[in-house]
Amino acid sequence: MDWGLQNRISRIIKPHNNRALMLAVDHGYFLGPTEKLENPKKVIAPILKYCDSLMVTRGVQRTSVSAASDTPMVLRVSGGSSIIGDDLSQEDITVSIEEAIRLNASAVAMSIFVGSKYEYQTIVNLGKLVNQAEKYGIPVLAVTAVGKELGKDARYLSLACRVAAEQGAHIVKTYYCDNFEKVVQSCPVPIIVAGGKKIPERDALQLTYNSIKAGAVGVDMGRNIWQSEHPVAMIQAARSIIHNNASVDQAYALYKKLSGKDSNKSKKNPNQKKSNKPNNPNQKKSNKPNNPNQKKSNKPNNPNQKKSNKPQDTPKK
Ligand code: 5RP
Repeated sequence: MDWGLQNRISRIIKPHNNRALMLAVDHGYFLGPTEKLENPKKVIAPILKYCDSLMVTRGVQRTSVSAASDTPMVLRVSGGSSIIGDDLSQEDITVSIEEAIRLNASAVAMSIFVGSKYEYQTIVNLGKLVNQAEKYGIPVLAVTAVGKELGKDARYLSLACRVAAEQGAHIVKTYYCDNFEKVVQSCPVPIIVAGGKKIPERDALQLTYNSIKAGAVGVDMGRNIWQSEHPVAMIQAARSIIHNNASVDQAYALYKKLSGKDSNKSKKNPNQKKSNKPNNPNQKKSNKPNNPNQKKSNKPNNPNQKKSNKPQDTPKK
């Protein structure tokens, strides 16, 4: 692999532990002013230093992230549809590779919509984006969505991830599901898990833990961080799992402590300690399948979904 490409991937997936914490703030590209992301600059500022990289659109990067920041940018380069349009799968590449270079992107990202009306277009676009990006040593992150009627399970998510990897994506983002090991094992490139819609903090930490445990390199989490009542506490709690091997109990205790919800001030902060300790006795409990996203995923989020081919995994306001 080219040095530049490898170097950029290393900014996103930390080589010392092969883990990644991405902060996703790209939702506005089709959702507009998403709840609690109405002012991206204010949202991003206090939490930026806790993520390894930021998933962003060019508009948000230009307007809401300081150019002095040394946080690597994963630039979304696809778009073309909105939540009130006919079909969210009708995306194209909207940002040139030259613009990605000008913005000093560490990677470019786009969505593929497997099993959707515009599947062909988005998969071909992924292949073309890989062709362009590899000329400049820029990795491509493929965001996988599957058609609503297909179900967000290991069968279809592994299909979508594998299709993305076969087109040359260097990192694949998908959703957590039961039997997630199958998705990871059949995908030859690193997998990162999207947080999905807002769920209770402990469940989001469990999702993070389960994802890592199943072999994902990390999470690309948005709403479960900045829609939390305490985003700064939440991102540090997620980070403690990804980079400090904290258990769910430890991470949640950290969340409570940092958010002022815990009166027990003597609890230790896993973020501040080296991670050589075994995870903790609760680990067994954490291994149980627990996919809060999936439990809720069959509920229609939005009446618009019924009349269109919108992908099932689309974030909702
Ligand atoms: C939007 C995206 C988001 O980056 C992705 O969904 C992660 O955010 P969240 O944790 O809120 O799901 O790709 O299309």
